[in-house]
Parts: sequence; C-alpha cells; structure tokens
Amino acid sequence: MALMQNVTVSELKINMRIVEFTKFAKPYTNMEEKICKFVQHNFRGSAAEIMRGGKKATCPVAKIIPGDSLLKVIKIPDTLRKLTTVSKGLPPELKKRGFLEFTVEPPPKKAPTSKQEQHQENVNQANEFIQNMKKGVAARDKATDAARDVLDNARKKPPSPEEVKENINAVMSESSPEAISAIASLKSSDQTYAHCVDAAAIFQTAYHAIKQKKGENSLFENPQMATFGAFMHDFGKAKVPKNVLESTVRFERESKEMHLLQSHPVFGAELLEGMGMAKHIINMAHYHHVKMDPSLNSSYPQGVNYDDVLMETRLVSIVDVYQALIGRRSYKKSWAPAAAIRYIDALAGAEFDPDVWDDFVSVMGIYPKGSLVELSDESMAFVMNVPDDDLESPQVAVFRDADGNDLERPILIDLQEEDELEIEQDLDHYEVLGEEAMEIFLRLEIS
Ligand SMILES: [Fe+2]
Ligand SMILES: [Fe+2]
Repeated sequence: MALMQNVTVSELKINMRIVEFTKFAKPYTNMEEKICKFVQHNFRGSAAEIMRGGKKATCPVAKIIPGDSLLKVIKIPDTLRKLTTVSKGLPPELKKRGFLEFTVEPPPKKAPTSKQEQHQENVNQANEFIQNMKKGVAARDKATDAARDVLDNARKKPPSPEEVKENINAVMSESSPEAISAIASLKSSDQTYAHCVDAAAIFQTAYHAIKQKKGENSLFENPQMATFGAFMHDFGKAKVPKNVLESTVRFERESKEMHLLQSHPVFGAELLEGMGMAKHIINMAHYHHVKMDPSLNSSYPQGVNYDDVLMETRLVSIVDVYQALIGRRSYKKSWAPAAAIRYIDALAGAEFDPDVWDDFVSVMGIYPKGSLVELSDESMAFVMNVPDDDLESPQVAVFRDADGNDLERPILIDLQEEDELEIEQDLDHYEVLGEEAMEIFLRLEIS
C-alpha cells in the first residue's frame, strides 16, 4: 500500500489523493448551523470525527449538529473524487474554505514511457522547486520577523503557545519547509532569529523524510508541531541578555557570559514547561547541546544521560550544527552544505548519534538541494534533486560552462545517466557568486 503522509494545504501536490481532512480553520470549532450544512453537503457519505460535549466521537457527517467541533473527515466515498484528487485549482479552494491539513496518498507513479518523458518530468519538478523557493524567500523573511517578535517579547513575558504557533506557522505554511531548508544554504543568517527559522525548516524536512522512509510514526501530532518544536530549541536565548547573545567576540570558557549562553537549554526547558508544552518538545530544547559523549566540554547541561536524549533531540542537535555551519555568520565564513556534511560526518559517533546521522544524510544527500557544485568538465551547476539510492549522483542544473559563460537556458542533467560526467567538487556559493547567489538560483529557467 502507498505510504500515507500528513501535509498542509500548501504542500498538496497534483494527483495526490486526499484520504482524510485532518485540520480545519476556526469556523469548524463549535460549528454554527450554516457550517454544519456546508460540511454535510460537501462531504456527503463521509464520516466525521467530532468533539461533542467534551468527548470525542465518530459519526456519519449527516449526524453532526450545531455546537460540534469538527476534528476529522474520514471514510470519504469515491464519489467525492473531485474533492480528494488534487488538481491545480483545488488547493486554493480548500484553503479558502478553511481546510488546512490532510492525510494523503502520494500520486500513483506511472512509469514514464521514454527517457524524454522522464527528462521532462524532472525538468518540471526542478522548475517547480525554483518557484517554491521564490515563495520561500519572502516567507522566510516574514518568519524571521515573527521569530524576532516572539523571542524579544518573551523577554518581558512568556508568550502563549498558540501565539507562537500562529506566528511561525502562518508564514511557514506560505512556502514549504523544503524550500526554506534549501534557501538556508543560499542566504546568510543571524545567530538567533533566522537560525531558528532555518533550523526548523531543515528539521521538519529531514524528520518527515526519515519517518516516511522508515515507515515510522512521527512523535508530533502534525507537521507544524515538528516545525514548532525545532523552532523552539533555542527559545531559552530569550533569557540571555541581548548584548551577550549578539556579541561577535568569542567568550572565554569560564566567563560569566559563556555561562549565561550555555544556560539557554535550561532556560528554554523552564519556559516551555511553564507553557505546558509536550515532553518531547521540552526535551529538544533542554538537551540539544548534549553530546553523545556527555563528558565532552562542548556538551551541556552537564551530567545528562544520553539515553534520556530523544531521537528528535539528537536530530535537532545535528540540524543545529549543520545550519550554523551553512548559514554565514559575522565572525566566520560559511560552509558549503557538502563541506558541512563532511565535517559533521567526522564527528558522528563521538558527538552525534551515528544512526541518526546516517538517517539525516540519507534524506539530505551528500550534496543537498541548492548546493553549488563544479562538474568534471569544469561547468558549474546547482543541485536540484537527490535520488534516494545514489546520493553522489543528483540531478543538477548546469548554468555556466567551463569557460565561465552563463548558458542562455540552464540544462538539467541527471548524473545517474551520465557515464563521463560527475561532481568534481562542491563550491562555496558566496565565494563564487557573492551576494547574487540567491538571485542567480531563482532566475534559473531550466529546459
Ligand atoms: Fe542552542
Ligand atoms: Fe541553535
């Protein structure tokens, strides 16, 4: 059977099949009669999971009554195919009606009949990815502003979880975490706000892919909560004085400032506990700097048993370091994603859980999406898609030839299909393309 997954309305893709509607906007809580009728009409023949009088119940949609809160629509009959088979126009319609999240089956894979068709499909996917990145750039900026609000306001008074979730998720859902995660490698980030946004996007993308690949359940109730949990990993920094947080000098190991900085996981856990957050989300904030060998100086808080560090936390600690390396900071140069992967690879087993690390690499690839690479014929390309089974041979968009001339139209090459051509080395996009890297990427129109 096809693997089910949970997606938001903006993550719906053409030809996916919606199996369940799992999250709704406000009007579906404590429904008015008009809404009940609307649901009954649109989902005729389906069943509804509802909250009635404080209790969960399942009934045919025909039986819902005003005052019920709609939790899920399930068992949707085939006759409603128009509503469940994702077409181009469907997602905006669903969004308008307040249908926010779904359980879906991926589109049926039809075997392309020719190489040409396969190529065209890859090209379409790559162009779609670039379009997504375009939306992602604006969404990331907005999310970063929201992050600044949340963290700075928390200095005065801890926000309600709803406030934070709404702030962050509203903007994140305008794009896809996958796109933001690729943007993270092409744009610089600060140490706090954009770092949280980018780390959250990378975490959600990787976590989701790992769980799907392994056929395991997510610990989070929905994809947004995974984003939220990762976003909050550095929440404790809200309690660290700004001048310490934003300092560009490195503090001495025993200094007061270093002590404050290294208290952020404990501060974060306290804040999240006070907000009534789930245990695993607290664990992520509390233990994301605990190393596999907790006796290391770089491991804090001290005295933690690594068995108490959840897989989710182990993953967020990897993402944390990965993001910090690829996002350029004021006091050091950024790393190309592939270089960051090699660097952390050397630390896996001592600092990071090697199994979780292998999972991370298996979904991100050795050359993550958006990486800039030089090919063996000296042309230059961006990585567009990473196959599961051959991490060293992604699909790349070649945009500059060996003589340094930009191609009029970049071409997509599947390195799995090429005998002669391979990746020669990864490049630091900033060093090679400067501030323009992002624009060059977004301008690609691949054929
Ligand atoms: Fe941290
Ligand atoms: Fe962090």
